[in-house]
Amino acid sequence: MTPPEPTASPADFSLLILGGTSEAYQLAADLHGRADTGLRVISSLAGRTAQPRLPAGESRVGGFGGVAGLTAYLRAEHIDAVIDATHPFAGQMRWNAADACAAAGVPLLRLERPAWRAAPGDHWLEIDNWDEAVAHLAASVPATRRVLLALGRQELAPFAALDHCHFVIRSVDAPDPQPPFAHAELVLARGPFSLADERELLLSHAIDTIVCKNSGGGATDAKLAAARELGVRVLMRRRPPQPDSPSVASVAAAMQWVAARAGK
Ligand SMILES: NC(=O)c1ccc[n+]([C@@H]2O[C@H](COP(=O)([O-])OP(=O)(O)OC[C@H]3O[C@@H](n4cnc5c(N)ncnc54)[C@H](OP(=O)(O)O)[C@@H]3O)[C@@H](O)[C@H]2O)c1
Repeated sequence: MTPPEPTASPADFSLLILGGTSEAYQLAADLHGRADTGLRVISSLAGRTAQPRLPAGESRVGGFGGVAGLTAYLRAEHIDAVIDATHPFAGQMRWNAADACAAAGVPLLRLERPAWRAAPGDHWLEIDNWDEAVAHLAASVPATRRVLLALGRQELAPFAALDHCHFVIRSVDAPDPQPPFAHAELVLARGPFSLADERELLLSHAIDTIVCKNSGGGATDAKLAAARELGVRVLMRRRPPQPDSPSVASVAAAMQWVAARAGK
């Protein structure tokens, strides 16, 4: 990959936000309000969705080309600090960021929202991968028959082997190609979702099991409250491991980290 040309505009301090989450959008918006202070903020999106919402301020879209590409980008753009605010289930970028920042000598902060925790009345089964979820669904015939898959559209394929289940697939964009499910219907929707909407979705489709990831945050947690109310079982995927980088759980804490480094 050819390193990008350095930009002409000088800045006292250049921050790269690895984004794709509501926290990353919020951080970019909050920092953009202070752009007159000599702080340059670049948000980076992977470009997975067809029409991504662009963050406030400067942004770029698309992969960097692995650790080498990101290292070259950090050097070419004279990045002073990186905040990895990618999704809790974006399993690769955090490792690339850790390696590239170490190689380029750039400080790195991980911004990750807290995980959801089971509350009284929840029927959760925690799993580490989708094969475990498939095994549990296969073993629970006929108790499990109507399943809401609330996961990424690239993650659906392992469930297509379960022809005793009727799947309701909720996704931002339609899966392309859609795996060969025996019984499935698609619900295209983008969060946040309200409790009333989630209750209606579970009831109208007679859902008995939800399969989802422990993404955390308030945009998509209403399905868990609705499941609790209705006695719906949840197969909850635990988060993947992450590098040993400094980490904060809120945008406010990330703002303080930037202020301490940028002297703003
Ligand atoms: N996984 C999820 O459940 C989920 C949910 C909501 C949003 N997202 C967002 O969607 C994006 C992709 O998710 P993923 O699970 O495919 O991530 P991933 O497994 O961590 O990353 C795969 C590759 O995508 C590129 N990439 C990821 N995040 C990027 C970013 N912010 N800017 C530029 N390139 C990026 C990198 O390509 P190169 O190696 O070429 O640099 C990376 O190696 C992430 O930014 C994440 O925040 C993910």
